[in-house]
Amino acid sequence: MDRSHYFHNSYRHPVCRSWHSSSSLKDTNLILPIFVTNTPDQKSEIASMPGNFHYGYDRVVEELRPLIERTGPRLRAIMLFGVLQPHEKEIKGNSFKNSPVIPALERLKSAYGQKLLLCVDICLCGYTTHGHCGVLLEDGTINLAESQSQLAEMSVLFAQHGADVIAPSDMMDGRVFYIKEALLQKQIFIPILSYSSKFKSSFYGPFRDAANSAPAFGDRAAYQLPSASRELAIRAALRDIEEGADFVMVKPAMPYLDIIRDLKNTVQVPICCYQVSGEFAMIYHAAQAGGINLKEVVLESMQGFLRAGAQIIITYFTPSLLDWIAESYNS
Ligand code: PBG
Repeated sequence: MDRSHYFHNSYRHPVCRSWHSSSSLKDTNLILPIFVTNTPDQKSEIASMPGNFHYGYDRVVEELRPLIERTGPRLRAIMLFGVLQPHEKEIKGNSFKNSPVIPALERLKSAYGQKLLLCVDICLCGYTTHGHCGVLLEDGTINLAESQSQLAEMSVLFAQHGADVIAPSDMMDGRVFYIKEALLQKQIFIPILSYSSKFKSSFYGPFRDAANSAPAFGDRAAYQLPSASRELAIRAALRDIEEGADFVMVKPAMPYLDIIRDLKNTVQVPICCYQVSGEFAMIYHAAQAGGINLKEVVLESMQGFLRAGAQIIITYFTPSLLDWIAESYNS
């Protein structure tokens, strides 16, 4: 009998179990998405995403304070999304110049400095009247050159107001190159976290209500990856790294763990995954209905991301996870 078959001995003690873990979750692994608006004092819960709010740019500093100024695991990084009213939008997305992200960045930077990493989502879908992620030609297809220059200008503007990380989610070909170029020309030396391997997904449903950014016609199949494709996801990440991306992302996360592992085995940059709004809603509602245990399922999903190879995790469960990490240290 081969004695190596008796492996349950090797994980009976909790400390031994931790030896089997690729790594354990830390607060620096987590990024919390935050939605800001131009109604300065607004705080309203997002119906499709319970526990998540629209915050006015004057409100966001104080709302985050309890998560940032606490002992033990704390909020270390956020991803800012600007949310406009329909009348504030413009056909080419020029309304990014009045994005609530700009005053929010200024306030957060002066309140928290280096304590909080400010990532900004870069995309035109929240700013264009039609809700597509780029500038359109008359026939409704993407105007690539204009989209690239708008995205580069938006990135520089947000960087000049305090962004620490530029995260383009628009999926326009070549945008990482143009963004990096524009930043370097202004001597701005901050990293790019590219939403490189972003699939066209029905898991974004609740977010489009939150960001008020559903396309008015058509869908995003022309610029988001087909969900059955493995090769395109890898090629897109390799291309974005070549164009200057410092970190790459897989999005959504749970249905694409294989892609996270493929990238881990292929690229030499840290990998991020985004547990998107539909994944959040699915777990939240299943737990509400008594079908699953919220805490256990969320923690298991985190273990899946770490095991697959992600070191950066964007998740709406971040506030709860900070509590649970603290508990695990005391147990
Ligand atoms: C913007 C963007 C989207 C998400 C993040 N950035 C929506 C989309 O691409 O349709 C989705 C995030 C989520 O569902 O939580 N392009």
